[in-house]
Amino acid sequence: MAKKGKFITFEGPEGSGKSTHSRLLCDFLRRKGFKVLHTREPGGTKVSEKIRKVLLDPKNKDMGVVSEMLLYMAARAQIVEERILPALKKGKIVVCDRFADATLVYQGYAGGLDVKIIKDTGRLVTKGLSPSITFLLDIDAKKGILRSGRVRDRMERKALSYHKKVRKGYLTIARKEPRRIKVLSATGAIEETQKEIREITLKLVKSVVR
Ligand code: TMP
Repeated sequence: MAKKGKFITFEGPEGSGKSTHSRLLCDFLRRKGFKVLHTREPGGTKVSEKIRKVLLDPKNKDMGVVSEMLLYMAARAQIVEERILPALKKGKIVVCDRFADATLVYQGYAGGLDVKIIKDTGRLVTKGLSPSITFLLDIDAKKGILRSGRVRDRMERKALSYHKKVRKGYLTIARKEPRRIKVLSATGAIEETQKEIREITLKLVKSVVR
């Protein structure tokens, strides 16, 4: 399937301000005349939003990491097929809060699942789709958890040691793929960080028809 659009993702530990930055970027791109799909993971389709509820419900505290990984993957399979690939085919810029990197880091590096199994399952689920650019908003794990503030979901309730591994995992994968994964500090001024995100994005979307 020819993909005329561009796929951009945002990643980061809890409380890193991903959704704020992705929303600001989408508003900016729309003002520039681009067709944009802004979505999130897990979620973005009826089925995937239902799976999200199961994954984040604090009552499901007995959920094991294998079920967890497969549910994240199931939610992803649905959004890739139902929304992301069709939007890219139409030439849209797709901006997604979290994608496959999150599974590698949360269920792999932090959760202890074999990274190779996650990558292999991921290939089936994403049909080989990978973001052109990933913005990794980096923040100290404890600061991030404190920032997220609201009522905590099942993932946010995991131990601080888990969230520290998440942050370390993200930085590890960023070192392995420096061309795709752009690490930005989540603690600087929002305007400065957003400016950098917009500059990088504009270079990427030059060829996209408005
Ligand atoms: P959000 O709070 O950023 O919307 O994401 C939901 C939670 O799910 C967050 O704690 C990160 C976690 N997550 C995983 O553990 N694995 C995944 O594959 C994805 C996409 C999210």
